[in-house]
Formats: sequence, structure tokens, C-alpha cells
Amino acid sequence: MREMKVGLAGLGTVGAGVVRMLERQAASIAVRTGCTLKVVAIAARDRTRDRGIDLSGMRWFDDPVALARDPDIDVFVELMGGDGDPARASVAAALKAGKAVVTANKALLAKHGVELAALSEEHGASLRFEAAVAGGIPIVKTLREAMAGNHIARVSGILNGTCNYILTRMADEKLSFDLCLADAQRLGYAEADPTFDIDGYDTAHKLSILTSLAFGTKVDAEAIYVEGIRSLTLADLEAADDLGYKVKLLGVAVRTDEGVEQRVHPTMVPKHWPIAQVSGVTNAVAVDGDAVALTLVGPGAGGDATASAVVGDLSDLAAGGGGFAFGAPVAALVAAERAPMQHHEGGYYIRLAAVNKPGTAATIARRMADEGISLESIVQRRPERSRSDEPASVILITYATTEAAVRRAVAAIDADGVLASVPQVIRIEKD
Ligand code: HSE
Repeated sequence: MREMKVGLAGLGTVGAGVVRMLERQAASIAVRTGCTLKVVAIAARDRTRDRGIDLSGMRWFDDPVALARDPDIDVFVELMGGDGDPARASVAAALKAGKAVVTANKALLAKHGVELAALSEEHGASLRFEAAVAGGIPIVKTLREAMAGNHIARVSGILNGTCNYILTRMADEKLSFDLCLADAQRLGYAEADPTFDIDGYDTAHKLSILTSLAFGTKVDAEAIYVEGIRSLTLADLEAADDLGYKVKLLGVAVRTDEGVEQRVHPTMVPKHWPIAQVSGVTNAVAVDGDAVALTLVGPGAGGDATASAVVGDLSDLAAGGGGFAFGAPVAALVAAERAPMQHHEGGYYIRLAAVNKPGTAATIARRMADEGISLESIVQRRPERSRSDEPASVILITYATTEAAVRRAVAAIDADGVLASVPQVIRIEKD
């Protein structure tokens, strides 16, 4: 039987999970692919750490680039992370040496995906990255292969397990943001630097890859409008709940007359939408094709989910799978335009801390009217200690309007001196 020799760089939770899964599924993969997959060499930082796996038959490399070039491996698996070296250098070295690469590294692909795809083409070496987006959900394969016959209008989803975990626990258990983030880190969902998760960049990295696969654009995370979840408060989540919504951090790529709009931001979605019911670390991706619209839901972070996607890619390679990294030759990919968010149209949730004095409500209503914004609902909550000079919480829900109009209205209200703190604005998606 054919044998495919694997060199693996990065032996954290995912790397160790891949080694275990390849052992556990060895017989099944061999039957399916007619090829045995064998990890023959490893590169990791600490040789002495006990990872609960037997590394005795594997050669050890301190330098992942040397491993990537090693003539005795057929495929290089990069699980180190980070958008710079050694991840970039080792993936490039493997491709240049004509070896297939499997990576879970979304940050690397978001920044250097086009350059690496070009190397893959030039050297006839496959580049696979199912694990880079939405963990265990096979969305890369779905877009690159299964939905190739569709004209896609929109791809959207919950792409960061850490944020969804935080928002779910805050809303359900009325817990603080900091406590939920600490738990996500302890459970191994969060990035090494969790600001990547909570400020939306991890979602943007993943979205840039999905956009390329769905719309034939060059991967470009810089073209994405990004807002994270840091400013969301329990008050926002509770108000959303009262109004019939859940708040989710969504990544959205949508075809518009002005190009493909890519954006990442907290979004209020009606509670009855399937995506609103996706909780905890679970991810979901919805694809609207002209022939097929579907939503895939599954575990988006954690060792087993990510290892499952890596092993799926390895199994494809063992079976002889090829194809372009982003579903089309690099020369055919078009540049991604930056989203003109000012033109974004939709409903808005606006929470204002309004100075509790006569005329404030009238000022707010007038500024909204000046911008032609129609209000669907307006709720003013009494300050905690009535008759004090504490600000009142005013929550406005608008009918469809533009981002530009909302920004102008809020700036004008602020300039009128009736606000006690920075306003909160959340975009609403509805039927
Ligand atoms: N930090 C990421 C998340 C891990 O929370 O989704 C998976 O990419």
C-alpha cells in the first residue's frame, strides 16, 4: 500500500489531537484512500513536555523550516499559528519543495494567502486549510467543491467560538464579560492573544478566506470593516432579549452593486432565526447560493474539532485530491474592495445614556427626524435611583435606514450635550 509521510510542526492541543486521531483512524483511512498516513517527524518547542502521545518513532526537529524541507516527508502540517515566521517561512519552504501543506492558520492565510496559493500553483503542491475556518465545520470544502455550481449572494456566520461563548454565557447567566473570557481561555478556545477574538480580527481572518472561496476575491482581511464585542454590556444583551433578539458577533460577506461588502460586527438577530439559537463555542455558517441555501452548524474551536478538519484534509491528500487553494487560479482572483459601511442599510439599535432633564427626549426625536430616521420603538428606562441626576437609558430601534444617517444623528445628539456617555449602536438583521 502507498504511504504518505507526514511532518508536523506545532504540538499543542490540536497537534497532539492530530497524532492521536491519525493513530485511531489509521485502518479506516487506509481503506478509504488506499494509502497509509504516518507521522514520521515533529517540530515543537519543548521536547520534554508530556503530551500523552508516543513520539518515539518520530524524528525531532527544532527548526520547523528544516522539517518542511526534509526530503523524507511528503506533506507538511503547520499548526504553530501566527502570521509571520516560522509559520510563513516553513509553509513557503514546503510548497517550494513540492510538498503538500495542511494548515489551520487563518492569520497566515488572511495575510499571505495569495502569495502562498501562488507558490502552491507554481510548484504543483496542494495547500489545504479546512481547519482554518470554523473548526470542525467543513465549510472550505463546501464552498470550494460542493457548491461550485452556485452563484453565491451571501456568506455569513458565527466564526469565533470564544465570542459566541462569552455572549451566550453573559446573556444566559448574567455574568461579566471578564469572567466569561477567562473561562474561554481556560477551556482552550481563545487565541494566544484573546484580543484577536474579542476585537473581531479572528472572525475577519476567517471571513476573508470564505469570501475568497465564495466570490473569487483575493484574500484581504484589510478590506473588512471590523468591530468586536468589547463595548457590549449586559444592559445591551438584556435589552435585546426584551425586544426579541439575540446579539451575535457575525462575519458577513454580501454581493452588492458596489462589490462584495465584508463586515464583522455585533449584530442583533431575531430569536427565532437558526443562527440566534447557536450557543456557546459552536460556530455556524450560512451560504445563500442561487441553487442551494444552507446553514452548517458545528464545533468551531477546540482540539478535537480542529484535528478533525486537519485529518480530513490529510485524508483528501492521501486519496489524491488536488485543486486550487482558493478554488480558482490566483491570476483569476479579483481584488477585494473595502466595504463602504456608510452606505450600509438596515435597522439599528441605539442605546443612549441621556441626561435626565426636560427636552432631552425631544432633542433625540428631532435629530432622528432631521436625518429621516423612522423609529420602530423607543423605550426610556428610569434611572436606578429615581429623582437623582443619574442619566436615563434610552433605547431606540429604527426602521431601515443608512449607517451614515445614524452616525450623523448620534453625533448631533451628542453635540446637543444631552448624553452622559458614549452611545452604543448595534446593527439589526431581520426578516
Ligand atoms: N480562537 C478561535 C475561536 C479558535 O474562538 O473560535 C478557533 O479558530
